[in-house]
Amino acid sequence: MSALEQRITSIIEETKSNDRHRTLESTTSGQGRLITINDTEYLNFTSNDYLGLSSHPNLTEAAYAAALTHGVGSGASALLSGRSSVHEALEQRLASFMKRERALLFSSGYLANLGVASALIKRTDHVFSDELNHASLIDAISLTKASYTRYRHVDTKDLEDGLKACENPCPWIITDTLFSMDGDLAPLQEIAALASKYNATVIGDDAHGFGVLAGGRGAAAACSLSQAELPIQIVTFGKALGTSGAAVVGSGSLIDALIQRGRTFIYDTAPPPMIAAATLASLELLETDKSIHQRLFTNVTKFRALSKNLPLLNSNSPIQPVIIGSDSNALFVAEQLRANGFYVRAIRPPTVPPGTSRLRLCISAAHKPEDIEGLVDTLVSTMNRL
Ligand SMILES: Cc1ncc(COP(=O)(O)O)c(C=O)c1O
Repeated sequence: MSALEQRITSIIEETKSNDRHRTLESTTSGQGRLITINDTEYLNFTSNDYLGLSSHPNLTEAAYAAALTHGVGSGASALLSGRSSVHEALEQRLASFMKRERALLFSSGYLANLGVASALIKRTDHVFSDELNHASLIDAISLTKASYTRYRHVDTKDLEDGLKACENPCPWIITDTLFSMDGDLAPLQEIAALASKYNATVIGDDAHGFGVLAGGRGAAAACSLSQAELPIQIVTFGKALGTSGAAVVGSGSLIDALIQRGRTFIYDTAPPPMIAAATLASLELLETDKSIHQRLFTNVTKFRALSKNLPLLNSNSPIQPVIIGSDSNALFVAEQLRANGFYVRAIRPPTVPPGTSRLRLCISAAHKPEDIEGLVDTLVSTMNRL
């Protein structure tokens, strides 16, 4: 066996022996209340399309119209010829929607996180990172080569102990705002107060809060944080906004610095203008149709009221994890739900800590009350069989 074959075999065998082998499936429908996989239609409880916007006609029509004028691909990085008037309009609209000075588009949230951290954080700096931060933040921190401390999840006492002992004069605090696998909100006001006390700078990854909280303005608005209190926010469009891509939002000088030093901005092909046009249409819907959020939170409340006896986490967001424990039981419950018409994937380590394998249910504004009732009934009867 060649060295490469040995390496590949050991990866595959290790994941298979631990019930952690991942497999791909392809949909033949859009996202939304329903999803079609291998000619079978399921109720979709897996998508981050929390508002049900990814197939909305306003978005598809905006994308089509932009493609007729600007083509499909952007053709180059933003600093060459890839930035269109649609990108500029989206950045301006986003900054004013979020009441911040300026925004800068990136192709994805992953790249935005890598770009921000590597542009601003020096290897002589020290970073405090919530232990449940998203993989892209963890990778972003390791790219900087700075020293770092993982503080206990949302534990501001542990964070403060670390800040007190830290010898670095201007440390960083990096956190998901709404945690992607637990659905809970970071204590942003307390974190901002600690940052001010210990001369630290906060970076908030609002991938799951943006579009959802505070009428879509996100976690900073939900926690009434000013630009000075949360100076660097990353928002993504591939979740509640139903499109793709991301932006960093903050002061004009922050954005100027990222244009100079953000390698994942400078050396990456600009996102397609048609996607920027669809994201603009999505923002417009958020601002004009308040009923979308009402439907979403009515559904979340209904799900939690019906699921009182299920092992849920303390989340009031559309992310509703049901903690199962073992990998094999999580797979079993997901399979049973699927056999009954509900599409849900089991989330296992290393995405979540060992022993906390779970179903990560995503509640959407597109669900009907009977969808949620059916899901909970099936879930309860399946869990009783474990
Ligand atoms: C918290 C968080 N940050 C960043 C990302 C990456 O965003 P994108 O999918 O746009 O790369 C995700 C995506 O899953 C996420 O959950």
